[in-house]
Amino acid sequence: MDKFGKTAQYIAYGRYLEHAKGDKALFQDPYAQAFAGDFGKEFMEAIATQVGTTVNILADYVAIRTKAFDNFAVEAVSAGGCRQVVVFGCGGDSRSHRLLEGVRVFNVDLPDVIDFRKTILEPRPQVIEVAADLASPETIWPTALTNGGFDASQPTLWILEGLLMYIPPTDQVRLLQAIETLSAPGSKVVGDVFNNAYMTAESGQPLLTEWSKWAAPPRTDAAIEEPETFFGRFGFDVEVKGYEHDDLNFGLISEEERAWWAEHPRVPGEEMPRNLHFFSR
Ligand SMILES: C[S@@+](CC[C@H](N)C(=O)[O-])C[C@H]1O[C@@H](n2cnc3c(N)ncnc32)[C@H](O)[C@@H]1O
Repeated sequence: MDKFGKTAQYIAYGRYLEHAKGDKALFQDPYAQAFAGDFGKEFMEAIATQVGTTVNILADYVAIRTKAFDNFAVEAVSAGGCRQVVVFGCGGDSRSHRLLEGVRVFNVDLPDVIDFRKTILEPRPQVIEVAADLASPETIWPTALTNGGFDASQPTLWILEGLLMYIPPTDQVRLLQAIETLSAPGSKVVGDVFNNAYMTAESGQPLLTEWSKWAAPPRTDAAIEEPETFFGRFGFDVEVKGYEHDDLNFGLISEEERAWWAEHPRVPGEEMPRNLHFFSR
């Protein structure tokens, strides 16, 4: 697994820890442990030690994001009317196997990640794995989607979870332009981005320094300050949520932290480190 795919193993370990809560878990992900491997565990433990937090707190953030996007995806393919789902930078995402039924799912990532996925997820007729570099001037994935039965006349849910912070700005724009071209009315986006302060705040540097020893770090130039404006350029009306939103954090963050975030609501342009979650309205 290259330095990008390794980031997916960290996230998979967070999902595994939530899964391991059993009856108390927000979701079950029976594939997460295999995706994480030993590396995902070692990586998350090293980050926790280095930045003076606990693995459980780091894992909770992963669980919150997973559950929020799970809920959105289920709604989008049922009441929302999306007939197909494309998961960009899918890493160890197993929604095609554990969550989504009755729709075609396209999982897109770098070739070695797709190869790794094929050793873990059993093949299914409705699930198409697509190897593509999304940070390349060659946009090969739309053809692969079409060959796999993608229908541009039907609404699509596009998932961009934990991806855009690794993609240079020109490639972000190219990706969104292609998405816009392929989006029938009713299509939706969901995902997350980091703002500038997340990348540059002094308080965040120990984490980023440690992270870069283990895997590809997020790119400073990939920060997106206002997802509303960014996605609006490509025809998507999005709502942005942070951890202060109760329907995002599922009570998993402490009362103190929740209160702190509630007192520091997101203001576009405000210099506070944020992981901004965006959801089509
Ligand atoms: C932090 S992981 C997130 C994985 C998954 N979305 C999740 O939330 O579990 C980032 C993923 O983006 C993928 N990625 C990064 N750069 C990419 C690129 N240029 N083209 C395709 N995938 C890329 C990585 O390989 C990795 O699987």
